[in-house]
Amino acid sequence: MPHSIAIFASGSGSNAEQIIQHFTDHPLAKVTLILSNKAEAYVLTRAKKHKIEGRYLSNAEFKDPDYLLPLLKEYQVDMIALAGYLQLIPEFLVQAFPKRILNIHPALLPQYGGKGMYGSRVHQAVFNNYEKVSGMTIHYVDAEYDEGQIIFQDKVALHSADTPDIIAKKVLELEHKHYARVIEEVIKGNE
Ligand code: GAR
Repeated sequence: MPHSIAIFASGSGSNAEQIIQHFTDHPLAKVTLILSNKAEAYVLTRAKKHKIEGRYLSNAEFKDPDYLLPLLKEYQVDMIALAGYLQLIPEFLVQAFPKRILNIHPALLPQYGGKGMYGSRVHQAVFNNYEKVSGMTIHYVDAEYDEGQIIFQDKVALHSADTPDIIAKKVLELEHKHYARVIEEVIKGNE
């Protein structure tokens, strides 16, 4: 039976879209469940388009083991990919899915990570510091923000004329290029 991937996302879900497409008709795994803590997040529209179960969960439901664990079990989830999910993952979930929760971060961790460092804030900080390079990081999730073991990073050169929006675009391109492939490698490694 193919592996079952759940995606947690809070926003547009362009990374989720890449992951869904990568695993469509894929022998190894498929995306079975998309959970968002924002009722209006575009990622839930994407779920609908792909006929994947998409659900809004309140932050309280995300933090409730008696709610979340049976839901993940119902969909036989054995891998969780965070794709622009902006809440801390509770300890019970880290324990229930050891080395089975991945996150993507739009910078070269350990730089520009931690609480409050997400999305455009990261790119603004990189811009403010006149960085010549940025990039993306895929890492295992533990119960701290952005601190789990790093699995993969890729870099992109920045130019002095690059605005935070241009930096964001360059980094997002890298994210789309790598995330699904790295998820696939981790699933294979866990088998
Ligand atoms: C991505 O750039 C992702 O790296 C970032 O949010 C964006 C979501 O975009 N995640 C974080 O900042 C987590 N700390 P998407 O919804 O289009 O995939």
